[in-house]
Amino acid sequence: MAHVELQGISKSYGHVVVCRDVNLEIEQGEFVTLLGPSGCGKTTTLNLIAGLDDPSSGDIRMEGRRVNALSPVQRDVAMVFQNYALYPHMTVAENIGFTLRLRGIRKAAIRARVEEVAASLELGDLLGRLPAQLSGGQQQRVAIGRALVREPKVFLFDEPFSNLDAALRLRMRAEVKELHQRLGVTSIFVTHDQEEAMSVSDRIAVMHHGRVEQFGTPEEIYASPATRYVATFIGSPQIELFTAVIERNGDEAALRIGPARIDLPAESYPGLAEGSAEGSKVEVGIRAEHVALADRGIAATVRLVQPVGPSTHVTLDWEGGTIVARLNGFARVERGSRVHLDLDTRHLLLFDRKTGQRIAAH
Ligand SMILES: Nc1ncnc2c1ncn2[C@@H]1O[C@H](COP(=O)(O)OP(=O)(O)OP(=O)(O)O)[C@@H](O)[C@H]1O
Ligand SMILES: [Mg+2]
Repeated sequence: MAHVELQGISKSYGHVVVCRDVNLEIEQGEFVTLLGPSGCGKTTTLNLIAGLDDPSSGDIRMEGRRVNALSPVQRDVAMVFQNYALYPHMTVAENIGFTLRLRGIRKAAIRARVEEVAASLELGDLLGRLPAQLSGGQQQRVAIGRALVREPKVFLFDEPFSNLDAALRLRMRAEVKELHQRLGVTSIFVTHDQEEAMSVSDRIAVMHHGRVEQFGTPEEIYASPATRYVATFIGSPQIELFTAVIERNGDEAALRIGPARIDLPAESYPGLAEGSAEGSKVEVGIRAEHVALADRGIAATVRLVQPVGPSTHVTLDWEGGTIVARLNGFARVERGSRVHLDLDTRHLLLFDRKTGQRIAAH
């Protein structure tokens, strides 16, 4: 178990800057996810932590000690690679037990430990097979097993579930989280799947073009995103954004989106109620769970009805654009019907149109 710190880490390959001044302090025993789209620098950051690559500048510390010059073995990290990297000439059992053999552990003890890990990953019947004789999902589980077989100071997982089918992926999320709760080993996990990140992490670092845009708990990044980018990356259905003009309404402020006028609770947005903001534009984000249908209010037409089980996503056209409402259960709404929108203004997210930074805290 180790406290891991990245201080001003940058990484370039020639002219290509891949990581830009990444600063992260990961507590001992914490489960942290690097989340972001393809190419944002997640694998590179993980490789730097593992010691498989050197940063162009900045320090990596484990348990307070600078480890830049240490090898992966000296850092005592166990990594599950995005591309598995199994030994092709070794069986499943040999692949999983390999690091234990390197440590000179007795054969019988290795066999027992390998069987235990294989059973938890449902690989028990495949121990004698070679990687070429396995499906992609089975190979991925062997790669996970190889990391789990010992207790390192830090686990590093690079998209470990990307080749598993949907059901197995959900089960593995729960398995990895339970395993972490049991062992308490500091874990750094990489995924581009925001729901996966939310469901397993203590904290999430949302990455964008090699930078960390926000580092916070799932609740912080969902409910209080620091930037428009974080707000749109997190949450399904995706948050809807509108350009709004700020208007005065007595002492209070209001937002005009197309023909609709939305009063803002002054206590939530004190800055916007000041006269100087009159006429300026902001971007407004509204999440689907904060949109309801009502008898009166903003007129809209139902465009699309998508039941997803516990809720129904209803896409609506109104004069300000398109918006999605998440209604409970199987909502009884018909395509083409005329309805009214009720927006929960306590949860509006406002962003600066130029910088993308969130304005005004609740
Ligand atoms: N050795 C290298 N030389 C040059 N560019 C590289 C090298 N390794 C990675 N890159 C570039 O750095 C960027 C980040 O790559 P990285 O593999 O860290 O992304 P990622 O976030 O893990 O993406 P993915 O989700 O697709 O795995 C990409 O644009 C990639 O092309
Ligand atoms: Mg990657």
